[in-house]
Amino acid sequence: MHRSPYIVIALLLVLSSAAAQEKREVSYSRDLFPIVKARCIKCHERDDENPSNYAMESVDLVKRSGKTANMVVPGNADGSYLIVKLLPNPPKGAQMPIFSKKKMTPDEVNLFRAWIDQGARDN
Ligand code: HEC
Repeated sequence: MHRSPYIVIALLLVLSSAAAQEKREVSYSRDLFPIVKARCIKCHERDDENPSNYAMESVDLVKRSGKTANMVVPGNADGSYLIVKLLPNPPKGAQMPIFSKKKMTPDEVNLFRAWIDQGARDN
């Protein structure tokens, strides 16, 4: 029995770090922009060569550029067209990143989801 306090403490540590991870705030600039920079920005920058008019170099543009109204619905990743475009068979056009052999990984898509579900803040 004398060992049980240590077991309880160890268990609490594991649980609290799992909870901390779940609640961790996803940041556009820290977590998402590196992915965007590597995989999206060459086509989604605000310049004359952008084929879609959708730009991603700031949170404001991510939410408001492009031709679709529900691009980012804060608190509702499933209702956000940005997420729909990262999944197979979007209703219009192609899955992003288009022309890339390397699709987004589930972890990458989940980061975008979490950011939107947490309110899509300019963070
Ligand atoms: C090689 C160029 C290219 C890359 C790389 C690319 N896109 Fe696109 N994107 C396009 C083109 C072209 C369209 C318009 C045609 C379509 O919707 O399929 C588009 C459309 C979109 C739209 C819809 C815009 C609208 O107004 O309807 C979203 C959202 C989008 N892309 C997100 C992304 C994200 C996120 C990435 C990176 C993971 C990415 N794209 C990578 C070329 C690209």
